[in-house]
Amino acid sequence: MTVQDASPDPSAALQRATQYVREARNLLVLSGAGMSAESGIATFRGSQDSLWSQFDPAQLATVAAWRADPALVWGWYLSRMDKVRRAEPHAGYHALAAFQQRSPNLRIVTQNVDDLHERVGLCDVIHLHGDLFAHRCSDCSYPYEQFEIADQVAGSANVRVEPLRCTQCGGQVRPGVVWFGESLPKDALAEAETLARACDVALVVGTSGMVYPAAALPEIAKRSGATVIEINPDQTPLSALADVHLRMTASEGLLACLGSAG
Ligand code: OAD
Repeated sequence: MTVQDASPDPSAALQRATQYVREARNLLVLSGAGMSAESGIATFRGSQDSLWSQFDPAQLATVAAWRADPALVWGWYLSRMDKVRRAEPHAGYHALAAFQQRSPNLRIVTQNVDDLHERVGLCDVIHLHGDLFAHRCSDCSYPYEQFEIADQVAGSANVRVEPLRCTQCGGQVRPGVVWFGESLPKDALAEAETLARACDVALVVGTSGMVYPAAALPEIAKRSGATVIEINPDQTPLSALADVHLRMTASEGLLACLGSAG
């Protein structure tokens, strides 16, 4: 049983978090867009340059948007792929990878569609909202990996690009991400819920906790008896259920709790 961290003392909170992590038998990391922020990938909410303060999700991240203007949607996703390709995982990712080497009972469930977790060698990462680089035909679901990113797309989020045609059925190839109104991949969600029920410590890193069902995972972990640690410079709807809230960035918090990769 744990108690809510009422202490305003950041070093006391850090000490408690470090001890919980060190003693964890099954550590579950639940990451969101804030995990990639220090690698230069924009979050969706919470700052002036966040994606949904610049772009309308209804025009870019729904099936209706895709049907209305596939070239606009595809161009926007190509520019996001380009940004991710140029990004490098920060020290917090490396700390996670080093920790998993020492302690294979660390699992990661992410809402992120980038591949930064995998690029540091983290294993068995569950992607709840799909994969920016695993495309599929919008008609027959035939899979397509890793397209060349056209030079004209680099650096611009406003380039319209006609999607490629499926070699199997002629349909349009769409991004392999989950859009608003779509269901999450069933197996990924089921495994994530099982991990949330089984973990004894859940480390919630860089998510606003606004998007369900992902936002329910810390609640499931907490209800199942886990200690919940939140790493986020800001308060979120999940802060109230966290036993410890580290008001730090992802790299600062992960390095402090897990130790450095070296
Ligand atoms: P959000 O963009 O909603 O929230 C990002 C969170 O990261 C905020 O709470 C910030 O305070 C925090 N943050 C910012 N910088 C940080 C840093 N350096 N270190 C740690 N935290 C930091 O991202 P998500 O919660 O992941 O869905 O968004 C959930 C879903 O909403 C996304 O997967 C996406 C979006 O619409 C789909 O596209 C389906």
